[in-house]
Amino acid sequence: MVALIRETAELCQRRSKESHAIGFVPTMGNLHAGHASLLERALAEHTVVYFSIFVNPKQFGPSEDYGRYPRTLEQDLSVIRDCAARFPSSQVVVFAPTDPTEVFPPGDTQTIAVSGLSTILEGKSRPGHFEGVATVVYKLFNLVRPSTAYFGLKDYQQYLVISQMVKDLCLPVKIQGMPIIRETSGLALSSRNQYLSPDQRAASLVLSQTLRELTDLIGGSRDRISKARLLISDFLKDPNWNYLELRDAQTLAEDVDRSTHITILAVYQLGSTRLLDNVQVEVS
Ligand code: PAF
Repeated sequence: MVALIRETAELCQRRSKESHAIGFVPTMGNLHAGHASLLERALAEHTVVYFSIFVNPKQFGPSEDYGRYPRTLEQDLSVIRDCAARFPSSQVVVFAPTDPTEVFPPGDTQTIAVSGLSTILEGKSRPGHFEGVATVVYKLFNLVRPSTAYFGLKDYQQYLVISQMVKDLCLPVKIQGMPIIRETSGLALSSRNQYLSPDQRAASLVLSQTLRELTDLIGGSRDRISKARLLISDFLKDPNWNYLELRDAQTLAEDVDRSTHITILAVYQLGSTRLLDNVQVEVS
């Protein structure tokens, strides 16, 4: 069963009557198979799952795509219904606020900032982005009070920022990172892929191919990281890379000399579309 709630007051009323542990999937809508995989996992683990669809204005910069971000509620509800149909004894409560003021009352004053992690890589390219993400996720956690919340690892830095916020503020919620879902070409699924022209789509494959090439080159051996860094500096001659970096997977520190888990994070830009991807590599 799928219920749709459009107002915060109704959400709070419904939530106060729940007796089950709640699984939660926060999204900005325009759902694809990546989102469906989060919902499926949440439904496999909970009888009641809350699912939010909210294009959060606070995480877009002034020159970013907030206005043109696709809003496709009817289509999204049908993805959710298809998924929910496979779990007939479960309930999905969709929270899709009619207006941003349902989440951010006019004149609100609170911001959640996760220092350090928020200002590097994606945070350096998009000042204020992670404050916007942490603030909305914190507010949604307060409204939904979930036991477990599910986040795609495609936005790996976002996953780390939220995990850090939960730890810092002692929030009683488990953060479950979920594997990246890819097209057969290797391109990671993203709502932004639809902005790509056919030529850009072909050009975008360099992103996942490069990450694969670097993973193969490292081959699990820390000794090969310096070779990978050399190759990265060669790749970076292509100006479409916003960044392509090798970091510690837990802290995102540049020094990986003692790291056992590293991550290679990248943004490849085609026109005004920034495509994010990453891979996790274990080294010894
Ligand atoms: O990953 C997203 O879709 C958004 O950043 C999130 C976590 C729903 C917050 O708006």
